[in-house]
Amino acid sequence: MTPIYRVQKILRQLLLGLLLMPALVWAQGLLTNLPNRHITSLAGAWNYIVDPYETGYYNYRMEPYDQQALPSNSAFFMNYHARDKTELVEYDFDKSATLAVPGDWNSQKENLLYYEGTVWFKRSFDYTKKQTGNRLFVYFGAVNYKAEVYLNGKKLGTHEGGFTPFNFEVTALLQPKDNFLVVKVDNKRFKQAVPTVNTDWWNYGGMTREVVLIEEPASFIRDYLIQLKKNESQTVSGHVQLDGAVNGEAVSIEIPELGLVHRVVTERGYAAFEFKIGKINHWSPQSPKLYEVFIKTKQQSLVDQIGFRTISTDGPNILLNGQSIFLRGISIHEENTQRSARAFSQADALTALTWAKELGCNYVRLAHYPHNENMLRMADKLGLLVWEEIPVYWTVDFASAATLSSAKQQLTAAMTRDKNRAAIIIWSMANETPPSEMRNSFLLELIAHSKTLDNTRLLSAALERHEKEGDPWTYVLDDKIGEHLDIVAFNQYLGWYGGKPEDATKVKWDIRFDKPVLMSEFGGSALQGLHGTRDERWSEEYQAYLYEQTLLMVENIPHIRGISPWILADFRSPKRLLPGIQDGWNRKGLISNHGIKKKAFFTLQSFYDKMAKQFPSY
Ligand code: GCU
Repeated sequence: MTPIYRVQKILRQLLLGLLLMPALVWAQGLLTNLPNRHITSLAGAWNYIVDPYETGYYNYRMEPYDQQALPSNSAFFMNYHARDKTELVEYDFDKSATLAVPGDWNSQKENLLYYEGTVWFKRSFDYTKKQTGNRLFVYFGAVNYKAEVYLNGKKLGTHEGGFTPFNFEVTALLQPKDNFLVVKVDNKRFKQAVPTVNTDWWNYGGMTREVVLIEEPASFIRDYLIQLKKNESQTVSGHVQLDGAVNGEAVSIEIPELGLVHRVVTERGYAAFEFKIGKINHWSPQSPKLYEVFIKTKQQSLVDQIGFRTISTDGPNILLNGQSIFLRGISIHEENTQRSARAFSQADALTALTWAKELGCNYVRLAHYPHNENMLRMADKLGLLVWEEIPVYWTVDFASAATLSSAKQQLTAAMTRDKNRAAIIIWSMANETPPSEMRNSFLLELIAHSKTLDNTRLLSAALERHEKEGDPWTYVLDDKIGEHLDIVAFNQYLGWYGGKPEDATKVKWDIRFDKPVLMSEFGGSALQGLHGTRDERWSEEYQAYLYEQTLLMVENIPHIRGISPWILADFRSPKRLLPGIQDGWNRKGLISNHGIKKKAFFTLQSFYDKMAKQFPSY
């Protein structure tokens, strides 16, 4: 190859890389806007086999069956049945019990409450394509923690990460009758996982969110971004990614209510665009306006419900649509209190977010991992601003490349799925991670990565304060990573983990950043129904008094622009073991795990009522 030709070839590849770059950094192949697609749900009773020794995955030499040249009928993903009475087969899905999917296994079976290991799931189904030539995908809302997926005995792939969606194309494999989808789910904790082995929440295992089949035309709209450009209240900036498109396929973005049609031509399925949207009704908590937005090609018309708003900071202020706001928030785990189980449905989302609205919230911190899509779409509808985070929690293995790759993959999937949700204003990189050079470079990687995906939303992380040398009542916030965040947030538990509730009024704050500050956690535990004096630990009175005193302190924190107390409702935790009080539950909820409000709920509610009057705009 002549030198000039080689240079030309390299330049061409570089240019192609740059052109496709925006398209390539989003989650590879993830289909977004699931609720508005043609889906067939695979929810329901799935046969399951508990397999702690992974007998269905490895032969007796610990060699994976799915990496052997010849498939073995001993491999559970073959869903094999003995053909006659002489044949040896030591499993049978169809004779095994069933679990409901979506749903964690811990809350469905007493003997699986603490189970950590492999459970196999199998669903048989027929499927007739609506139109020949269409393409078929199987989509998982989330599987905690690791999934090996097989269809009709063929491996589709593997996925790690318990809180983000993934899908596989099955066009060539799906048959009209007797399909069997087998999923090996393993929720064992391990050091390099994200989160790592130590969390203050239950390690719910299973297919905890929807499992659906999606049918699309041969060339279809896989993904798109349609949001306001950073700091521009009347300019939409975005892109569209087709899959299977011919070169030069046309796409139109239509918003009928605005009489708007914007046409683009795609290059290898991708097109970036900007267009003026004129005077619109901007999305906000008080006016959560969602527009019907249509993305159309020759073969397909896909609708989405999208809000348009701007979010930015100016010194200590958070500006929503150019107006300074105070975030009246609450932290939420993804748990349905009535079922004591992983939440996943629209009804679960409505319950949790209605409680938040009742508290007087305009904001929720969805801890400590990406919640199910119903929560984000419900927040869009109800008008609640959202902090969304990935489970880079406490002491993940900052030295491990595999850990960083998993954190990036989870961040990418969450941002890909949710980038059109106006409610989300903050992406959080971490929670209470111990400062170190290794941790800082890990988080800087995540910060840089998130900026390649979305430069409009604000970045934060829940940091920790420390006491000033020789002055225990001066709390310092100077975590170096704060220099790289738009919003500096911190968790503090004065009055619960050390000190007394009334000490809160002694504290002076030394915040080393000219940025908005959020107190992303504070709180204390109470067993609902336990009453006593306000210095009696675990009583509702103690919790309410702690809230009262901490809320007095909040107003003295420089640059404070919001709080998200810990936490809306009691939640399961294997670390909370005090008999008769905790019994495997973290009791910091303002609502019990039976849905009963505690005194502190009303303490916070009256504080927010006062704040709303002070900051009437939102
Ligand atoms: C920590 C942590 C939470 C935990 C809480 C508690 O700040 O972020 O995940 O549940 O404190 O101790 O209750």
